[in-house]
Amino acid sequence: MTEMIEQARAILRRNDRGGYTVPTDRLYPFQWNWDSAFVAMGWATFDEARGFTEVERLLEGQWDDGLVPQIVFHALSDDYFPGPSVWGVQHVPPTSGITQPPVLASAVRRLLDRARDGAAAEDRVAAIYPRLVASHRWWRQARDPAGSGLVSTLHPWETGMDNSPAWDVALARVPTTTTAPVQRRDTSHVDASMRPRAEEYQRFIHLVDVFRDAGWQPDKMLAASPFRVADIATNSILLRAERDLLVLTRRFGGPGDAAEIASRADRMQDAIARLWNARTGLFQSLDQISGARIEVATSAGLLPLYAGAADAAHTQEMVATLQRWAGMVRYLVPSTAPDEACFDALRYWRGPIWAVVNWMIAEGLAESGEAGVANEVRNATRELIAAAGFSEYFDPRDGRGIGGANFSWTAAIYLLLH
Ligand code: GLC
Repeated sequence: MTEMIEQARAILRRNDRGGYTVPTDRLYPFQWNWDSAFVAMGWATFDEARGFTEVERLLEGQWDDGLVPQIVFHALSDDYFPGPSVWGVQHVPPTSGITQPPVLASAVRRLLDRARDGAAAEDRVAAIYPRLVASHRWWRQARDPAGSGLVSTLHPWETGMDNSPAWDVALARVPTTTTAPVQRRDTSHVDASMRPRAEEYQRFIHLVDVFRDAGWQPDKMLAASPFRVADIATNSILLRAERDLLVLTRRFGGPGDAAEIASRADRMQDAIARLWNARTGLFQSLDQISGARIEVATSAGLLPLYAGAADAAHTQEMVATLQRWAGMVRYLVPSTAPDEACFDALRYWRGPIWAVVNWMIAEGLAESGEAGVANEVRNATRELIAAAGFSEYFDPRDGRGIGGANFSWTAAIYLLLH
């Protein structure tokens, strides 16, 4: 076994807090939703049982209505803001009150498909399956009550791409006022130039205040939120997850599950297909408050590939887009197009490369028959990690590792690529 694989495993072990894995020490001291889905797949490459435990511990945070929260606060810590008291959610264990991209069902399917101990995996999935079904129903009921085929996200944190320039216009409508002072902890762990700006943070917390006042009730949150977007990444990830859940219904489903899931997936597929942007050669998100399409070109717009939602012509155009980007930066895939005025190679989701996004894009490309480009993206990801370590994100110009170090999901992706 190579030394890098050993190091990746060691990071997961070091970030293990007893059945759940923190994204990294200090900066993110709790369990995060989509991080854990990737991390579960990473664990499963060398410890299948531990992979399932990761998922089960995340689901300890699931609400009665099906929501799988963005953060589960299994143990308290002063290293992070906003903690449980700011959220004011009544749940044991404490959780935040918003969600994150639903990679979970896809992770569970992969754990099952690749299990060496098939019988043990079947037992674990049988117990988890009803919760996955409930979480997908939650998306439909809470975030697409009108049945448009696109689910809404109400907070940039829900998209997992917190300060993406795709949210600039929509976020600018959110007031900067907050009921209590914003006491950021992140900038004491990481250089401020690599993190969201102060003003963005004020708006992030304003939204938390609005939702807490709405009693965390989905209909009230939807009505009261000054931020509401149909994020192309979240919708693509959910569509992929619906298809993976559909496969699980064959073994674990109750009567009607398959038809219900298939009909949601069909509707999503049609709605995503309408979000193509010929100018950028990418899919795009929708601002559901103004009704405007969000034109800024980001890597999220490639994720319909991962959902299997792009036809052959659009796939070709996205490959061309990636090749254009490859001519402007040394490494793929920058989170924002390098020729966008707002491109910022260091600042978080405004330019840097994220290993989890690369992995999803590469999976999508490979499944669309684009093995060559898929391998380019996979090789770039391996190279970046081999040269710079298991960083939170990477500078696409020179491959420098930035943000936090020893990141669990970067380690997990390294394991998935071997
Ligand atoms: C940041 C990222 C988000 C991630 C979290 C924990 O908030 O933007 O995607 O889940 O950190 O790693």
